[in-house]
Amino acid sequence: MSPPQRPRVLSGFRPTGAMHIGHLMGALENWVKLQETHECFFAICDWHALTSDYQDTSHLRDYVTEMAIDWLSAGLDPEKCTLFVQSHVPEHAELHLLLSMIVPVSWLERVPSYKEQQQQIANRDLANYGFLGYPVLQAADILVYRAELVPVGEDQLAHLELCREIARRFNALYGPVFPEPQAMTTRTPRLPGTDGRKMSKSYGNAINLSDGSEDVRRKILTMVTDPARKTRRDPGNPDVCPVYDLHKAFSSPDTVGLVNVECRRAGIGCIDCKNHLLRHLEPLLGPLHERRARLLENRGRVRDILAEGARRARAEARRTMEEVRAAMRIDTGQGT
Ligand code: TRP
Ligand code: SF4
Repeated sequence: MSPPQRPRVLSGFRPTGAMHIGHLMGALENWVKLQETHECFFAICDWHALTSDYQDTSHLRDYVTEMAIDWLSAGLDPEKCTLFVQSHVPEHAELHLLLSMIVPVSWLERVPSYKEQQQQIANRDLANYGFLGYPVLQAADILVYRAELVPVGEDQLAHLELCREIARRFNALYGPVFPEPQAMTTRTPRLPGTDGRKMSKSYGNAINLSDGSEDVRRKILTMVTDPARKTRRDPGNPDVCPVYDLHKAFSSPDTVGLVNVECRRAGIGCIDCKNHLLRHLEPLLGPLHERRARLLENRGRVRDILAEGARRARAEARRTMEEVRAAMRIDTGQGT
């Protein structure tokens, strides 16, 4: 008897630079769990990175490799999941093209992130065809594997809803080919960066997965705290301190409780408090640092993992595209 089919998962990220501990808590830890119970495909979406960063592509390849190293160091296991680069699987582009025929432009203009990003990213011209079609490409990423579950952050829910609409429209026009994928959101607290703003690579305030233990230590020890604590004797308020937010994400309940009490009555200093945090953070990051060191010694292995991932992903994507072409009665040039 063949083992029961595991539900299929697809998710991805754009390779736009180093990933940080917010991504670890928000996405990667969840992916690492999912690979035990689900059939998982994880895509490094380099074409998606091009939709906004098309002018300077000089870093793209390095970012792809770095992202693979970040994922593997976080614990994704190529024996348990398929991790691959979007552009290694050209079937995504073919499906994107075919889907683009049936997606009304008004659906795309309605996506909240479309107008927002165009306004926010003022230093680049985003009035492109490719940027408008971003969610169609994302839908192709998901549908080309007929994935059932898509773990994403809440900011991606509108894209997922659009993907479901596209699947429904395709099925209504040409017959049932695609399941309607479900979003799977993980509620994770927003992590502050070292300057107290949201942790983000664009603010330069992130603790990256590629930071060694000395970097992590330095970044935490120089992190901003409650400004009311000018000296060790001034009581503070953990509720306005970003270090406390990190405690809530990484420290034990005992430590969180202790900081909550002792900060308010100046029972501990900020350096003590940060050392408590490091005591919890360091064991968590230790295995990541070890895996990263091994991968950096053997970059050929990273390339091999991505090549094998693309091979597995492509086999699946090809099967779907055969059904898609048949459903749409597209001539394959092979008499079928
Ligand atoms: N749009 C996603 C993001 O910015 C990345 C992404 C591309 C994605 N393709 C996907 C996520 C498919 C889930 C499924 O985070
Ligand atoms: Fe922040 Fe900790 Fe200092 Fe309180 S003791 S202000 S929680 S760093």
